[in-house]
Amino acid sequence: DATTRIAQVFSGTFAHSTPNAALEILENCMLGVDDEGKIAFIEKDPDVDSLSKIRGFDASEIIKLDKYEFLMPGMVDTHIHASQYSYTGTALDLPLLEWLNTYTFPVEAQYKDLDFANNIYTKVVRRTLKNGTTTACYFATIHTDASLLLGELADKFGQRALVGKVCMDCNSAVPHYKESPDECKAETDRFIIELLKKEYSHVKPVVTPRFAPSCSASLLSELGEIANNNNLHIQSHISENKQEVDIVKKLFQDCKSYTDVYLKHNLLTNKTVMAHGCYLTDEELKIFHERGSAISHCPNSNISICSGILNVRNVLNHKVKLGLGTDVAGGYSPSILDAIRRALDTSKVLTIQDPDHQTLTFEEAFRLATLGGSEALSLDDQIGNFVVGKDFDALRVNVCVPGGPIDLFPGEGPKVILEKFLNLGDDRNITEVYVAGRRVVPFWNT
Ligand code: GUN
Ligand code: ZN
Repeated sequence: DATTRIAQVFSGTFAHSTPNAALEILENCMLGVDDEGKIAFIEKDPDVDSLSKIRGFDASEIIKLDKYEFLMPGMVDTHIHASQYSYTGTALDLPLLEWLNTYTFPVEAQYKDLDFANNIYTKVVRRTLKNGTTTACYFATIHTDASLLLGELADKFGQRALVGKVCMDCNSAVPHYKESPDECKAETDRFIIELLKKEYSHVKPVVTPRFAPSCSASLLSELGEIANNNNLHIQSHISENKQEVDIVKKLFQDCKSYTDVYLKHNLLTNKTVMAHGCYLTDEELKIFHERGSAISHCPNSNISICSGILNVRNVLNHKVKLGLGTDVAGGYSPSILDAIRRALDTSKVLTIQDPDHQTLTFEEAFRLATLGGSEALSLDDQIGNFVVGKDFDALRVNVCVPGGPIDLFPGEGPKVILEKFLNLGDDRNITEVYVAGRRVVPFWNT
């Protein structure tokens, strides 16, 4: 329509996923972004003169990618604890439940202090953006004001984010790091109202029961009601570690399975994403499929704290929505490129154990990091790949940056270049990051 104008035009090679193809490479293409940050057109082998006339842009302003560059969709981190970022890369020597009580709860308790929160939340938003995470699904802590601050910082730096104020009312070894059920409900209501009141374009609240062992049945019910009454996203953890699964069986004896605990409390919707799922049975995966609920695969965390191995092939065969997560700080890397590599590694471990296992391909891992993540967060109508009408969330990748981590050799085409970037690349290769058409990396204030 007449009010939207073309703000940017890129030409060159673009790589993305579609519902039918884990990898589609578009060569010699032109992509236009309108002034609302949406993709206005994608043209293959365009006649530049006529296209620029029809679409109303100046051919001299086209951003031409060179042959070592490409655009790809921004990556989606479907599970990351912003509040655990300070100790990323340390404290990986205990299994989940001991790890939570020893390292995690004592640190998270400190987010009562907003200066403490501001320092770490600023760093995690900037670090993940620089590494190409255009959308993050964040756990904060139980503290409403610090959680609101995380939302403010994501908005300020231009990251698309779901932000969760954590809810937990039992079984914490740190006595002051939990809330009463009434506080939990009141503070969750306050968090949602205050965050929505800010009217951020790309930052939304997500209802966040920590996981079943930290929540009473009545708290889980309250949270299910809040999420469903307000059509909100829901996130939690499920079947990450064997000891955890056993405890849930003891705590919720009237439930058939861990999945049944969340199902009974109306927490499995098509806007739910549950982290891990290593020990889900086929029967439970069927429930995920029926409910349209998603799993966040966090392979670095699963290996780092010796939790388990998710059989991604089996999840995909059950047609359960699936994305990748870093699970900072159970995972020691804030980069989704790392999650791609760990997902491929763990899939290969399953193939070593069972030669009939069908190993994940790099193209499939690429899709999980982009389109799959957008589906897992039910944002695939807005982001995830390059389709006219979707928001332009994208990375400009250059595999030949001076001093960078990748060497190229003659005859290597775009598919090999993408594979090398996924396996060898890092933030030095991500020269620009766009969220809804806005360039958010390099940072505006540095
Ligand atoms: N389960 C409940 N809380 C957590 C957490 O903070 N990290 C991980 N990895 N698992 C959890
Ligand atoms: Zn987690």
